[in-house]
Amino acid sequence: MTKARVKSVAIIGAGAAGAVTAAAFKAENYYERIRVFERREIAGGTWIYDAEPPTRLPIHPGGLAPEIDPPLQIPTTLPHISPPNVQERYFQTPIYSSLTTNVPDIAMCFSDRRFAYGPFAPHYVPRQYIENYFSSHETDKFLELGTTVEDLSLIPTTTNEGGVGRWKLTLRKYDPIRRVDIWWEETFDAVVLANGHYSVPYIPHVKGLSEFIANFPNRVIHSKLYRSPQAYSSKKVLVIGNSASGHDITSELVSTASLPVYQSRRTPSRWDGPNPPKGIEWKPTVKEYTPSGRIIFSDDTYAEDIDTIIYCTGYQPSFPFWNATANGRPLYDYTTGRLSRNYWHTFFQDFPTLGIVGMPRALTFRSFEYQAIALARLWAGRNTAALPPVADQKRWENERAERTRREGKKFHDVPWDDGETHAWLGRLFEIAGLGTLGGDGMIPPVLGRDIVWAIDNVKKYPDPGKEKREGDDTGMEEGDDGWIVVGREKDSLAFI
Ligand SMILES: Cc1cc2nc3c(=O)[nH]c(=O)nc-3n(C[C@H](O)[C@H](O)[C@H](O)COP(=O)(O)OP(=O)(O)OC[C@H]3O[C@@H](n4cnc5c(N)ncnc54)[C@H](O)[C@@H]3O)c2cc1C
Ligand SMILES: NC(=O)c1ccc[n+]([C@@H]2O[C@H](COP(=O)([O-])OP(=O)(O)OC[C@H]3O[C@@H](n4cnc5c(N)ncnc54)[C@H](OP(=O)(O)O)[C@@H]3O)[C@@H](O)[C@H]2O)c1
Repeated sequence: MTKARVKSVAIIGAGAAGAVTAAAFKAENYYERIRVFERREIAGGTWIYDAEPPTRLPIHPGGLAPEIDPPLQIPTTLPHISPPNVQERYFQTPIYSSLTTNVPDIAMCFSDRRFAYGPFAPHYVPRQYIENYFSSHETDKFLELGTTVEDLSLIPTTTNEGGVGRWKLTLRKYDPIRRVDIWWEETFDAVVLANGHYSVPYIPHVKGLSEFIANFPNRVIHSKLYRSPQAYSSKKVLVIGNSASGHDITSELVSTASLPVYQSRRTPSRWDGPNPPKGIEWKPTVKEYTPSGRIIFSDDTYAEDIDTIIYCTGYQPSFPFWNATANGRPLYDYTTGRLSRNYWHTFFQDFPTLGIVGMPRALTFRSFEYQAIALARLWAGRNTAALPPVADQKRWENERAERTRREGKKFHDVPWDDGETHAWLGRLFEIAGLGTLGGDGMIPPVLGRDIVWAIDNVKKYPDPGKEKREGDDTGMEEGDDGWIVVGREKDSLAFI
């Protein structure tokens, strides 16, 4: 692989991934220029609570991110001032009022700071934590807030050592005083993508759904717009999905909505017992929406007069800023759901000065830390272990793609139970190694026994049928904070 001299780094996004990436790069005490571009007015990413979400979002059943979240038209000359953008950019977050974290804080937080409290904290605790993380590492000075990266293009060059090329970022900042968008460009030796992947809603294609949406406007929403159950008082609601969002939203709707609350499930999740909780009626997947408004399920039962259908069917990554023409290829394959030519979910085979932090569905903040340190160390030329040759990286990618396809899994899902998270983080740990004798560089943390124990035993969601009842010997205890310690056999991080 061509060796590049990296002295300036742009980080896209100031969520948890951007926060730890900025800290890791600063700690190297090697980089001359670090900038973090964040489209929101504060750091925090997913954890920013938007009390007033957009009243509606366009719904595109089966639509993939490139058509739902297309790039903006870039002005032909820069710098430039234009009327403010009006295209939907999906920047608000899906956090709802009652949301708490679902991973014990000891395992979720970065290794050098704990959350204010835990084990499961309200949504504003991680948001405050991320903001504080920037200021406590004095990386807040790197932040360029309210600034969206609208284009990322590689500028081929021979002047950079190794001829790797530099990255040109086209940036757009809204000026609220003049009510205009200000556009400009900046160039960097390297770029870290930390832009998250829970912004653009995914709604599956279902026969008749598009027509249903047109016939019954505002009846179908995505969980991204849900904030509290009060808005659904006495309404007949159908929730689609039973992962974390579907579970939480269905459970709290029971307190206000017309009963039963219907919940459509494709597969049982780990917290589903043999029967639904009181007030909830389970349904299989929706087969068809008819012009009259009937919703037919795959077992041919149906529901009518549903006031609101809430799709809790998750999100999809989106990289509208990636200039596939300038960069010679797409970044992400939206049909297979994976980064193209990536290695170890972090590096790129053909772009040695591009990295990504936060893509895998795995332990969150803590794993971002390993990725960020490995990238910071690698580009400072202080890494302990080299990346494998490109041919081996390619082999890793192909073999993983083939295995996950065969097993019906997702390429970027990194499970906990089978030890894959340990192997993944272990390799990042080896690549980074220690910093310098003088103390430059963050050191990849240990994945200590206390963390592993917490993940394996401290659960937010009690397992069904195992609620502690007097006289029961379920192997569960209720902790001081009201959370449940469950049996080891129930361990899983599948809901992350
Ligand atoms: C509803 C919900 C609940 C969750 N609960 C948990 C939980 O309990 N525990 C847990 O561990 N994880 C949870 N997660 C996962 C959560 O996303 C991660 O914990 C983590 O916050 C992800 O951080 P990130 O920095 O990768 O992405 P984000 O937090 O999404 O941050 C990315 C940032 O990049 C910015 N950005 C995007 N595009 C651009 C651009 N072009 N230019 C400039 N800025 C840009 C965004 O505005 C955002 O601030 C939850 C996710 C959701 C959606
Ligand atoms: N802290 C919290 O308490 C909390 C709360 C909410 C969300 N979150 C986080 O937010 C992120 C997103 O979670 P999410 O629950 O919104 O999304 P998600 O985890 O991606 O779950 C998507 C759900 O939609 C279902 N689904 C997907 N495609 C479908 C289709 N074609 N037909 C029918 N069902 C379909 C899935 O079913 P299958 O299971 O069959 O695939 C699954 O139940 C996760 O990181 C999660 O941890 C956290």
